This record gives sequence, structure tokens and C-alpha cells, in this order.
Amino acid sequence: MRGMKDLNWIRGAALVRWCLIGVVGLITIEELRSSVWLLAMGAAVISNILFVASESIEFRFKFIASARNSVAYLDALAIMATLLVPSVASHNLWLLSIPLIIADSLVHHNLRRIFSLSGWTAAVCLAFNMLANHTWVSLAMSLGAVVVAGAFAAGLSKAQRREVNLSRRDQRLHAVQRVGLAFAESQDLRATMELTIKAAVVETGASCGYIMLGADESRGPLVTEVAYSPHGEFDFPQELDFGFGLSGYVAKMGQPVSVTDKNEDQSGFDGITEGVTAAISVPLLTRGSSTPGRSAEEQVLGVMTLLSTHKGDSFTADDMELLRTFAALVAVAVSNARSDERQHSTFVRTMQSLATALEARDEYTRGHSQRVCEVSLLIAERLGFGPEALEELRVGTVLHDIGKIGVPDAILNKRGRLTDDEFEIMKTHPVIGYEICKPLALSEGVLMIIRNHHEKLDGSGYPDGLKGGELPLSLRIVCVADAFDAMSSRRPYRGVMDRHTVMSEFSRGAGIQFDPVVVESLRDLLNSARMQELYAHYWTEEEAEAA
Ligand SMILES: [Fe+2]
Repeated sequence: MRGMKDLNWIRGAALVRWCLIGVVGLITIEELRSSVWLLAMGAAVISNILFVASESIEFRFKFIASARNSVAYLDALAIMATLLVPSVASHNLWLLSIPLIIADSLVHHNLRRIFSLSGWTAAVCLAFNMLANHTWVSLAMSLGAVVVAGAFAAGLSKAQRREVNLSRRDQRLHAVQRVGLAFAESQDLRATMELTIKAAVVETGASCGYIMLGADESRGPLVTEVAYSPHGEFDFPQELDFGFGLSGYVAKMGQPVSVTDKNEDQSGFDGITEGVTAAISVPLLTRGSSTPGRSAEEQVLGVMTLLSTHKGDSFTADDMELLRTFAALVAVAVSNARSDERQHSTFVRTMQSLATALEARDEYTRGHSQRVCEVSLLIAERLGFGPEALEELRVGTVLHDIGKIGVPDAILNKRGRLTDDEFEIMKTHPVIGYEICKPLALSEGVLMIIRNHHEKLDGSGYPDGLKGGELPLSLRIVCVADAFDAMSSRRPYRGVMDRHTVMSEFSRGAGIQFDPVVVESLRDLLNSARMQELYAHYWTEEEAEAA
């Protein structure tokens, strides 16, 4: 795209233009008193300053971009002004054409443009030669100079174009490597997708780009996950129905599409109304798992779309190739992340079933892990935990008593209080649970909840006697929720404890055994609908017993 023009050539063109101004200045030094000539020189100098200023990306897209387009008119003005000075026009006109043709080739790299410019210059030389009755020798000299300049500019332009293409490919290769490396090294899918869409927009010179993902294994609406515009001026679509707009169509068909049409219905560009002139969209494709006798089907995970508002621009085949490469990287990463998510959720459900089965052996602890999980999450949400911390807490609490699998049934299901020796055996369950879960690649936070959920703030807990700052907030929450559930439910050696007695126990232990902030949060939650629902069974009994 035009936006990709190498700024080095603009610098080169500016240099040639300075030469042009110098050459003409030297040739016509005696004419400097002419106001018309001074005007032409001033215009040439201003045009060159604008040219140099256009190196700045910030300005290219605003004022300077339009000013640079006017440079050609300023050049024409300079030539016309020079022609009005008879002595310059008659002898030195052809000298002006050489730097002009070369400067133009450096900027545009366009052979047709060079030939057209050379032709017009030759025609003007011829016309003036005839009007001024110059010799055939001077005509041949000027025409020869124009032809040589044109040929030189054409060769230069071809070489530059080759070099620009090579350097652009090199730059794109680096961008692909950078993005590929980010996907290989980073665990943060969103950050890597942001990096990818930014690289795609920068490398293709697009005005904006976005990645939309569909729901897992369904043809639901596409939701924008990441978007980027160098100027932040786009109102990106938040959600698109499958089959609607350009992105929806690409998601539906599973084929890349490139559109260049100013008159296109704006709904075709995903409803964006900022004067989009070209768009390109590619699907994020992945292969599902194959079954015997049936090859894996391609599945569309989402789309990656780029838009341009630059007049006359269109996306090239190279742009499409680059976008397809990026889309393939994103698709693999999204597919892997979803597969990890599914595996994780299957694992948690399996462990949950195991914990439930374990607790089902004993009517007194039935549902304990699930309730501890729910109470912990309620407290954590109240204390502002983020989604990742909540998930860690959820897995940790579901598994926290899994080590009881290693405690003999005679102790686990004993009716009555445990003896000191039996209690010592019971106290081994956090470490047993930790040893069971250690090889399962769980996070440090989850393993800590399993191992240390019986620790106390003052260090009187077990198995490691952690205290104070050694207990992270998530662990402090589990300790309170675990103790709350144990006290609130029935035990073989006692009935259901009155909830006010439970809370006064917590008040006594706040700051000593339990975190006071967590205890306060629990107190605030006590009358919530969810807590009533969780403990309705015990609290109804408690009221009945009290009556
Ligand atoms: Fe426990």
C-alpha cells in the first residue's frame, strides 16, 4: 500500500530537489532581481521544506500529506516562472528537467510516470526551441539530455523498487518472526493477539484492524477481542452476527476476502462509517480432531480484518499473504488455549467428582468442599479478586481435602471425638493431598491452598506453622471458609452450631487465628440469598432445635 512508502526515498528526493534549486540559482544568478523569479525560487524552497517535513509520520496523515501532493504543482509553478524569464527559458530550460525527472522517479518509482514526464518535458523543449528559433544543435542537446535523464530515472526507479520490495519483505519476515516468537513464549493470548493485529496494521499500512472470535464450537456471534488503529479514530464493531458484514461473511464462508470499492454499501465493512475504501479479511481456521475413517473438518474460530481509508489504496497479494500467516498463528494459539481450557475444566470436574465421592462416604462432611468453594468465592469477589485469582481459588477449594483419601475410614468416619493419635493421623491429610496433586501441574497458589488450608494467622496451624504475612489472602479466605463450614455443619460429637455462636467464635479469633478483614466480609455475607441457600439445610435444623 502507499502508506508503506520508504521514507529514505523521500529524503533522497528532497536532496535532489535542493540540487535543483542550487543549479537553477547558479544558472540564473543575474536574474535574481526579478520578482517573478524570486517567487519561483521561494515556491521551490517551500516545497522542499514541506517535502522534508513529510518524513514525520505524525504529519503525513494530516496537513503535510495534502501539502506534499501540492509539491508537483509548486514544481510546475517554478518551471512556468522560469520560462517567463526569456534568457533562462531560451538557454537553460532543459537543465531543469534532469533533477525534476530524477526526483520524481525517487518518489514514485513509477515507469509510466517517468516516461510521461520525460515526454512532456521534451515537447515543451521542442515548442520553446521552435518559438525562440534556436539551432538544431541546441534542440538535439536538450532533447538528448531529457532522454538520458528519463532512461537514468527509469533504471534508478527499477533498482529502487527492487530494493524497496526486498527491504519490505525483510521487514515483514521480521514481523512474522517477532509474532511467532511471541506466540511461542507468551502465555497471555490477548497480549499476543494485540501484538499481531498491531504488526498487521503497521506492515500493510492499513488504517485499522481487529480480531473477532466466535463462541467455542458454535456459530454464535463474533465478538471483537482486540483492535488497533494508529490514530484511535475508529468505532470498531463490538459484536457481529455470523454471516453479517464482511467479517461475518468471511467467518461463514471460511474464505479470505479482499474488497476495494468506494461505492460499497457500508454495512459490507462491518458497519464502520469512517469512509473505508479498501478492506481485507481472513478466517482463523483450525482442524478439529479426526475420527477413524473421517478426516478432520476445518473449523472457523474467528476472523482477522484490516480496513483502509486512504484514497486509491488497495491491499496487495503480499498483504493477503502476510495476513494469512498471522491468521494461522492466531488460530493455532486460540485453538490451543481453548483445548487447554477444556482439559482444565475436565480435570477440575474429575477431581470434583472424586472429592464428592470421597465426602459421600461420610454424611457429616457431605458437600463440604463445594460449600467451602462457594463461600470462598463469595468472599473473594467481595474483596475484588480478578478472574484468574478466582479460578485458582475455585480449583484449590474443590481439591483442598482430597488428601483425606489417605486417611483410614475408621478415623474419617468415626462417631465421636478423635483421640490425640487419631487426630495426628487426620492432620496428615493436607500433605497427602499436596503430594497427590503435586505432579498434576497445578499452580503454586492451588497447591498452597491444598497443603496449608489448616494454617492460622498466629502460626498455631498445621502442617507448616505458617504465620502472618506468610499466608496470602486467598489462603486466609479458605481458612475462614473451611472453619465456617466445619462449625456450621453437624458433627458426630455435636449438633449444628448456632450461626451467632459461630460468628462470635470468629470475632474472638479475628486477628489471632483468622484475618479480620475476611471475617468482616463473611459477616456481611451471612444474610445474603446465596448463603441462606447454601446453609438452609443446617440453619433450618438449628432453628427447629432451638424451638
Ligand atoms: Fe481439611
